[in-house]
Amino acid sequence: MTKPKCPQNAPYGVELENKSYYWCSCGESKNQPFCDGSHKGSEFTPVKFETEESKKYYLCGCKQTSTPPYCDGTHKNNTPQAPTKSGCGCGCGCS
Ligand code: FES
Repeated sequence: MTKPKCPQNAPYGVELENKSYYWCSCGESKNQPFCDGSHKGSEFTPVKFETEESKKYYLCGCKQTSTPPYCDGTHKNNTPQAPTKSGCGCGCGCS
């Protein structure tokens, strides 16, 4: 399976209302952390989720979380490395 791109090696803190959202799992969206349709043609699909209350949520930015769409701290295990031309440089393995 292809690894997702890592747009940010940290969670996105976003204020969400009590409704449905689509979290980008491929890392290619220009509207992070939400899906903008950029995954089309890839093996990735967005993760639909619903919030139960209006408040600030922390959504995964490294796309390696085991609890999508929410950050589980996995980004802390990514070893910093020199940025590559197309990768994020966070050590998450994206390219
Ligand atoms: S743009 Fe990434 S899952 Fe849709």
